[in-house]
Amino acid sequence: MDKMPIGVFDSGIGGLTVAKEIINLLPNENIIYLGDTARVPYGSRGVETITEFALQLVNFLLKKEVKMLVVACNTISATCLSEIQGVSPVPVIGVIKPASQKIVDTTKSGNVGVIGTRATIYSKIYEKEIHDLNPNISVSSMACPLFVPIVEEGFGETEIALLAAEKYLEDLGNIDTLHLGCTHYPLLKNVIQKVVGSSVSIIDSAIPTSIEVKEVLMGNNLLSENSHIGSQIYYFTDLSENTIQTASMFLGSDISDRSEKISLS
Ligand code: DGL
Repeated sequence: MDKMPIGVFDSGIGGLTVAKEIINLLPNENIIYLGDTARVPYGSRGVETITEFALQLVNFLLKKEVKMLVVACNTISATCLSEIQGVSPVPVIGVIKPASQKIVDTTKSGNVGVIGTRATIYSKIYEKEIHDLNPNISVSSMACPLFVPIVEEGFGETEIALLAAEKYLEDLGNIDTLHLGCTHYPLLKNVIQKVVGSSVSIIDSAIPTSIEVKEVLMGNNLLSENSHIGSQIYYFTDLSENTIQTASMFLGSDISDRSEKISLS
């Protein structure tokens, strides 16, 4: 039983799609969310820079005495999870492993698609994780860098999103499962489903990761008591009116009274 907070972090606000599912599944847990809104996006940066930034985020959260770290960002999970695990005294969970298990459990044809940022797709981490689970699955992947700004502009349900999705997804082939391997893409789900067709199962990292969080907390005897009502605080490295608005869009609730700007230095 443990009231220490869970640290959930991301390159920006997108990781709130993961935080939302953790809060839904584990309402007794205190959550500290950290988004590097001053330096987002990470997805088109090099591995060295992403690692340097991510370790600064980790350092901030460890000082807050978190009992677990959740790397809600696909890009960070894809590029430097092992470096984070190497410096963390508390359990660290990324989004790639739980999502890969879900992909393998979902596909029937064995032909799956994975989309994400450039850094995630170029890392080939999803291919590796999926093939470790089942080497017979064929994985088509595609980097979709325009999707992040489209979502952040609130254009997720518009013609612009549809055109971008048609362009990016045209070469994925005959898949039966598509994984949204980026925190922002769940907000494009309707448009993506329209483009790939209703027969394709669309999945994302948020729910599988929240289930993994619960299992690891249970396994380490770190779950908070049932009687405890969990609280959340949202830290951002840049905090503007726009951050609050977009964050509320991702989370589905207003976080203005629980948001704080912090400095990593
Ligand atoms: N959070 C990132 C991810 O899931 C998307 C935004 C970025 O490029 O930093 O890959």
